[in-house]
Amino acid sequence: MSQKVIIIGASSGIGKALAIKYAQEGFEVGITARRTNLLQKIVEELPRAKFYIAEMDVEKVESTRNILADLVEKMGGLDILIINAGIGIPKASFEDELKTIDINARGFMGLAQWAYYYFKSKGSGKIVGISSVAGERGGPTSPEYHATKAFASTYMEGLRIRSKKRNHGVKVIDVRPGYVETEMTDGQRGMFWVAKADKVANQIFDAVLADKPVVYVTKRFRIIGFLMRNLPEWILVKMM
Ligand SMILES: NC(=O)c1ccc[n+]([C@@H]2O[C@H](COP(=O)([O-])OP(=O)(O)OC[C@H]3O[C@@H](n4cnc5c(N)ncnc54)[C@H](OP(=O)(O)O)[C@@H]3O)[C@@H](O)[C@H]2O)c1
Repeated sequence: MSQKVIIIGASSGIGKALAIKYAQEGFEVGITARRTNLLQKIVEELPRAKFYIAEMDVEKVESTRNILADLVEKMGGLDILIINAGIGIPKASFEDELKTIDINARGFMGLAQWAYYYFKSKGSGKIVGISSVAGERGGPTSPEYHATKAFASTYMEGLRIRSKKRNHGVKVIDVRPGYVETEMTDGQRGMFWVAKADKVANQIFDAVLADKPVVYVTKRFRIIGFLMRNLPEWILVKMM
């Protein structure tokens, strides 16, 4: 029987590349987003693959959890949940900052928490969260974005420790991308080592297979993660 994965936020960028990669590797793939027309296009691009589509707005935390539960039932089970949906709004207003927290932190937690108890009851399963290298420290341009990614990474660390301590069998994989060419970074200045989404998806696929707890994609961003964690704030003030 083929393995089953659900990707939250699969209509573009990293999520879309992951959907294609997992389908090509023979997985049954559940794909969710608000723009279901884009999800439909992925299905049409790979007619031999087994896809399941669900419309989902991660901002609506309660309904998101119900939609996920229904999708898992429709697929007849789940092995891997990838929580990829996320936003970063340039020059964010107060409302934009709240929206970022609702999607990247509250929405993220709602899905991860549901999946944790689902996988615990099954005795196995993997939660993969797409955080960011930005979560390592505060950032002057979008402090709310950095903070939500720090939340996601810390939340995942907590779940991982809980699972190991209590033998729940749930693997939790924290993916921290650097810069990736997607809709989200379109027109953003000051980027370096920018990777294509399909390269990032390949590296995520391998890391999930290897059960790595924390993964930087592309791999060289491990260096940036190390520097971000360890540089004193006065150097960050000059650099960022
Ligand atoms: N690109 C980078 O350089 C970079 C770096 C570090 C981390 N990341 C993280 O990687 C993840 C994917 O981003 P990306 O760069 O691939 O950007 P993207 O191309 O803009 O993709 C974002 C995905 O999230 C979904 N999404 C956004 N808001 C949603 C909502 N309210 N409900 C449901 N789905 C929603 C979008 O689907 P719909 O709009 O169709 O709903 C889309 O599928 C994000 O969590 C981002 O923070 C990206």
